[in-house]
Amino acid sequence: MCGIIGILGRGPVAEQLVDSLKRLEYRGYDSAGVATLEGDHLDRRRAEGKLKNLEKRLAQQPLSGHAGIGHTRWATHGKPTESNAHPHATDNVAVVHNGIIENFRELRAELEKQGARFASETDTETVVHLVNSYLLKGHTPQQAVAASLPQLKGAFALAFLFKGHGDLLIGARKGSPLAMGYGDGEMFLGSDAIALAPFTDTISYLDDGDWVEITRGSGVIHDVSGAVVKRDVLKSGASSFLVDKANYRHFMAKEIHEQPEVVGHTLARYVDMGTERVMLPARLPFDFNDIQRISITACGTASYAGFVAKYWFERFARVPVELDVASEFRYREAPLRKGDLAIFISQSGETADTLAALRYAKSQGAHTLSVVNVPTSTIARESEIVMPTLAGPEIGVASTKAFTCQLMVLAALAIAAGRGRGELSEADEAKLVHGLVEVPRLIAAALTTEPQIEKLAREIAKSKDVLYLGRGTSYPLALEGALKLKEISYIHAEGYAAGELKHGPIALIDETMPVVVIAPYDRVFEKTVSNMQEVAARGGNIILMTDAKGAEEATVESLVTIIMPDMAATFTPIVYAIPVQLLAYHTAVVMGTDVDQPRNLAKSVTVE
Ligand code: F6R
Repeated sequence: MCGIIGILGRGPVAEQLVDSLKRLEYRGYDSAGVATLEGDHLDRRRAEGKLKNLEKRLAQQPLSGHAGIGHTRWATHGKPTESNAHPHATDNVAVVHNGIIENFRELRAELEKQGARFASETDTETVVHLVNSYLLKGHTPQQAVAASLPQLKGAFALAFLFKGHGDLLIGARKGSPLAMGYGDGEMFLGSDAIALAPFTDTISYLDDGDWVEITRGSGVIHDVSGAVVKRDVLKSGASSFLVDKANYRHFMAKEIHEQPEVVGHTLARYVDMGTERVMLPARLPFDFNDIQRISITACGTASYAGFVAKYWFERFARVPVELDVASEFRYREAPLRKGDLAIFISQSGETADTLAALRYAKSQGAHTLSVVNVPTSTIARESEIVMPTLAGPEIGVASTKAFTCQLMVLAALAIAAGRGRGELSEADEAKLVHGLVEVPRLIAAALTTEPQIEKLAREIAKSKDVLYLGRGTSYPLALEGALKLKEISYIHAEGYAAGELKHGPIALIDETMPVVVIAPYDRVFEKTVSNMQEVAARGGNIILMTDAKGAEEATVESLVTIIMPDMAATFTPIVYAIPVQLLAYHTAVVMGTDVDQPRNLAKSVTVE
């Protein structure tokens, strides 16, 4: 899951390459590099770590070529060092790659036997030597790529630049996304529309198995059989993406604070506030009455949104829901029946495991519905039904506003399912929609807890471990709270169903262990209070997130109580997500970590 860009420009392209890589850094930031054609030879600049290191290198040793490729890396094969940074190159050809070449060991052994000398530990370098081996036999660049691609197993998006061919870029994709951008006397290749946004909003997405030969005047696409094919030319709309932090210190802070607005936009797309009815933006090609079972599949934070939705679908629509993380779903060959509904949730719409799960569900004849934030993404394009979240671009690696928008969409869908199956009356629907309409205002109110949470974060930052507890829909939120804290502050955290505490994790409790209890005053509140008592009896420090009534009724002493706005119990996870996110954010700020780009992570996980 790296980001790639290629440009055939009208002038020097190094600056444009870096500009695009800035937008692609969400895909990885272990190293970065560019290569351009300098006269008749290929020249590279590469640097370990963040893009700013590459920028420094380029300032010292500029590149002036008019054709170039660039890469930002999330390391899979080989450490994040300069020698493993892309582009990888021989004298004749340079390549950037997103994905994994699974058979690289066999290929490398064979190529080494033929005399190729490798300079990195990466899977990618096999590609460049393979193509080079054909060039050395006298093949043209097009022939060399066409001969190489069928030998590559795994997933890839590739961009090639060739010595002596100043007006040629070749791209290829299988599994990983790749888009071609059309300019005026210049052409582009990139991982996504965001990468191309500074230059053009006119793009074509390559289909799986396609490869493309690009000159400044045209792009000729070949499908997997080699036949020349046409792909749709689209307006991406990505050029309007605002990618700046406004006055915030981090994208994550900005994105947390955008939630009243973006959750409100999403709400407006899914409900008619006048009639208090759900109004889905896409027609459903099935009747909810015919659905025997729903399966929900996603990864990470998106899977926790799915976990909350399981409670909603089961309660509103009385339909059984199976929830899976995508990396398990795809290999356990879950039995899906023709006509079942399979829901996939993804901010990026490019997560490799979720995409593979979607393809599996399709192959089983299930209806596929995706809840995605990037409407042009592969998951969106391959789903039968798309339910967009309107969170806008999410740049911080830790997902925040996409999560609450996912919850908003899933809540509307669950209400629609309840109505469709006759489990909810029109009055029930109106009551639930009324509750949803309140959510943006409640999120804004929840944001006022920030000064208190900022103070609390200074205490949490002293801990080695933190436990998060919740019951009902607060249980998935406890999982999300723990994930958020560990990914950006690097403090170990666990989320548990509050009732599970006594089955093991209670052994961890002592006075050094903060326990965050997410407990709105709902029908399981009393039960959660009992679990809090178990924690208090063992000296654990409780941080209670509840409402005024809950604070009054909780008979247990807490270190801190965060008082949330009063609200109907059903949709509390959308609002209680706010203090959970703020606590992780401020703890990470105290710890001094790289909040927007935490170590070892990437925003879009396009490898298995
Ligand atoms: C955590 C986080 C990840 C993503 C996961 C799925 O803050 O962002 O756990 O939720 O990688 O990504 P998408 O939603 O793009 O499929």
